[in-house]
Amino acid sequence: MNHVEVCLTPELIHQFELKDKIVVAVDIFRATSCMVTGMAHGVEAIYPVATVEDCFALGKDKGMITAGERGGAKIEGFTIGNSPYEYMKDEFKNKSIVVTTTNGTRTILASLEADQILIGAFLNLKAVADHISSSQKDVIIHCAGWKGTVNVEDTLFAGALIEEIKASHHFSGDPALMALELFKRNAHDLLEISKQSSHAKRLATFGIGKDIEFCMNQSLYSVLPEFKDGKLQVI
Ligand code: MLT
Repeated sequence: MNHVEVCLTPELIHQFELKDKIVVAVDIFRATSCMVTGMAHGVEAIYPVATVEDCFALGKDKGMITAGERGGAKIEGFTIGNSPYEYMKDEFKNKSIVVTTTNGTRTILASLEADQILIGAFLNLKAVADHISSSQKDVIIHCAGWKGTVNVEDTLFAGALIEEIKASHHFSGDPALMALELFKRNAHDLLEISKQSSHAKRLATFGIGKDIEFCMNQSLYSVLPEFKDGKLQVI
């Protein structure tokens, strides 16, 4: 039996041993939901970077589509912001996107010591679970949270994934127990509790509440993006 742990915010990732483990990076509202959506719609590769400057530089030097947000708002001068609906565009098929976000890209880049980094969202929950179940590897679900704090939606995902892989992975640690219990108590209506999250309310003020509903769809896509050699590609 393998083990699965939960890191509720990148602020705590230094407390975890990532070596030889799979890390599932998750930022439900909205970074990893966007990444999964883009790859499901034919985007060739996605390059997560830490800074706005890095994004502009890759966009200019490599002709990549620039994407991302800060505080939820699209970065001025970027081609797109961070809505999954923006990642569905036909003109992005077979193209590369370079992205920076407030929390999601930071979470991915803070997981580099892992054996494998997978991109998880409710949108590809089953694809993530199926891969992990057959991996015979221990797992850390690395939640993006919000600016260092814990959030509801990423924690719910962690609980949902723990439930999905329970036949092969036993949860370990209090954060995992908390995530599992939060999921079980709300599994009947995940959207309702997700709408109460601080970031859902923040996004609603931008008039993009529809992103919240879309991001909460479960296993809409079967793609499984992996972060390797600086970019996300489907495995
Ligand atoms: C994040 O990095 O936390 C999200 O991408 C923020 C957002 O999309 O609004």
